[in-house]
Amino acid sequence: MAINCKDNVITMETRNSTYQMKVEKGFLIHTYYGEKVGDMDMSYLSRTIDRGFSGIPEGVKGRDFSLDTQLLEYPSYGTGDFRNDCLRVEYADGSQVTDLKFVSCQVKDGKYALEGLPAMYQGDKKAETLEITLKDEFKNLEVVLYYGVFEELDIITRACRVINKGQEKVSLLRVYSMCVDFYDRDMDLIHFYGRHAMERVTERTPLHHGMQSVGSRRGYSSHQYNPMVILCKHNATEDAGICYGASFVYSGNFAAEAEVAQANNTRLTMGIHDAQFKFVLNPGEDFTAPEVLLSFSRQGLGQLSRNYHKAIRENICRGKYKNARRPILINNWEATYFDFNTDKLLDIAREAKKLGIEMLVMDDGWFGKRDDDNSGLGDWFVNEKKLPGGLKKLVDGVNDIGLKFGIWFEPEMVSEDSELFRAHPDWALTVPGRSFTRGRNQLVLDFSRQEVRDYIFDRMSEILESANIEYVKWDANRHLTDVWSAALPAEKQGEVFHRYILGLYDFLEKITQKFPDVLFEGCSGGGGRFDAGMMYYHPQIWCSDDTDAVERLVIQYGTSFGYPVSTVGSHVSVCPNHQTGRSVSMKTRGVVAMAGTFGYELDITKMSQEDKEEVKVQIEDFKKYYELIQRGDYYRLTDDGKTSNLVAWQFTSEDKKEALVNGVVLKTRANPVFITVYLKGLNPDSVYEIEGQSGRFTGAALMNGGYPIPVMPDDYQAVQLYVKEC
Ligand code: GLA
Repeated sequence: MAINCKDNVITMETRNSTYQMKVEKGFLIHTYYGEKVGDMDMSYLSRTIDRGFSGIPEGVKGRDFSLDTQLLEYPSYGTGDFRNDCLRVEYADGSQVTDLKFVSCQVKDGKYALEGLPAMYQGDKKAETLEITLKDEFKNLEVVLYYGVFEELDIITRACRVINKGQEKVSLLRVYSMCVDFYDRDMDLIHFYGRHAMERVTERTPLHHGMQSVGSRRGYSSHQYNPMVILCKHNATEDAGICYGASFVYSGNFAAEAEVAQANNTRLTMGIHDAQFKFVLNPGEDFTAPEVLLSFSRQGLGQLSRNYHKAIRENICRGKYKNARRPILINNWEATYFDFNTDKLLDIAREAKKLGIEMLVMDDGWFGKRDDDNSGLGDWFVNEKKLPGGLKKLVDGVNDIGLKFGIWFEPEMVSEDSELFRAHPDWALTVPGRSFTRGRNQLVLDFSRQEVRDYIFDRMSEILESANIEYVKWDANRHLTDVWSAALPAEKQGEVFHRYILGLYDFLEKITQKFPDVLFEGCSGGGGRFDAGMMYYHPQIWCSDDTDAVERLVIQYGTSFGYPVSTVGSHVSVCPNHQTGRSVSMKTRGVVAMAGTFGYELDITKMSQEDKEEVKVQIEDFKKYYELIQRGDYYRLTDDGKTSNLVAWQFTSEDKKEALVNGVVLKTRANPVFITVYLKGLNPDSVYEIEGQSGRFTGAALMNGGYPIPVMPDDYQAVQLYVKEC
């Protein structure tokens, strides 16, 4: 059993970690999370002292035991713990005090599910569920804490449900999904910040007293901060040291907060951001807080990342394309933008076919009146001026050439200049009578409303049924402002942000069920909703609108901390690059795009013969390395270029018999110094060959002595080394 409840001590175990709680004086105390310690009662670490100005709970004798100084499992507001809390409730009398006491604990076989929310599923893994019930007796408010233990994956999931069992209406002002308290503060916080076209840049800073927090109040998980954070010991490196991850399986507003308190202990909390959040529960109603994936590694950040890669790839991603090879695609966005028609797309398809590309994706601009981004969203009817004869004619034409066909949608949005907005202005999120904010000159549809979703669902279904469409790119190109829903009374307007995401998930569940053979790629202006929640519906997400291979080194490096390569949408684009004006070699663009789902995004009809020949080779290489790239173990061999002139990463097969080493040397130098790459994850005693290179090397040699990177002229030259056991 991975879960053990005895003598008030509740212990969960994964392959390499132990997580423990204890019931003390009726409260649920956290005693330990870290390296495996068996079912040893770790509460000997929990010390008490008369610390002034910390409240003493009712019924506790003496002055030593305060919730303010204990490590707590799910802290609520108002009973003496002055640190950051997980639960804040306003009762009918205006009071906000909640006193949670332990009631019961139950172990169940298998992994719990959360209705209407994405969550890890059991699949073919062993999993157990722990349910702990806490209660505020005075107001009859119950909290059920859920834990899913994936022993083999080293993952413990957390979520919770608040149930109003009282007679009065209550307002939830904050319901975080989880809290982990630590005895000390000697850790760094790693988080992933950014902006449109530069997402998930890594930042590592030591914890300090007070609060360090990241989050989103934009309605989406956002480009600006990713809902995945890491706490690690100061000495933790890629390959050694203690680290903890928390990844939110949710795509809306979030907060991830690390607080170092007076006695130098640390609290990490994660959940839906409480700004603009107020959820009303009538008697008998309940609220579910989304899931967080916790993982622990003492083998450094690399192992922590690999834990997440496996968990997301195998127990979050679903559907046909979870395992099936995804087609190598060409997308027309950077080739044509809005200026295309059937003939142009067929020209691209014909040329693409010759080079081995397998699918054409028609991006934005095929519907309504859409010649730029100022109009047409919401009018999901084929623009026959651009596609004379309709969609089927185009798709059949593309299929006849021998390519699959994919299409772009932005279902959550509406342009003011659209038939849909003229017919239903109240379907957009706006406050009646008040002027509103535009983003990309568009508004957001109120996806919390069933009739809005139903309408878009029908339009989308009609299109998908009208031709042989095998892929959908689901885009969302602005954040939420003017949040107010015509479907809810005034007291429930604080629910709209969350209900929007619930509506989105409901839609995605239905559309992916209805079209199980369609590959859905998520997108929000690139990687603005790159989170484990979306990956439950979209096995891949366009990683960034920045297609410059050099910028992608930084973006994909940061992304790799929490997300598997199989989810990273990545394409070769034209040079000079449209976002940066930079030119790099075709080889470099190919190697970088291969750290993802791989495809092309340029006008292939204008490509030189030399580049076309290279594309053919890239496609063959990608197919050859596909399993290794998509399912192999991922190792970061360097950082993102902050401290080294080489950015390198490696895919290694599970049996360690083959590996693919990839690297880009950033700056060329006169009289160059030599660069060596140190491989990882090989079998030290095995003997390996490197394709196209002479010599044989033991794994120990390649990992400890390294392998020389050739001196290459010009900036940003790439190497790709295929390493195979002899
Ligand atoms: C977003 C996407 C792009 C492209 C455009 C189309 O920015 O990230 O890839 O689809 O929208 O408008």
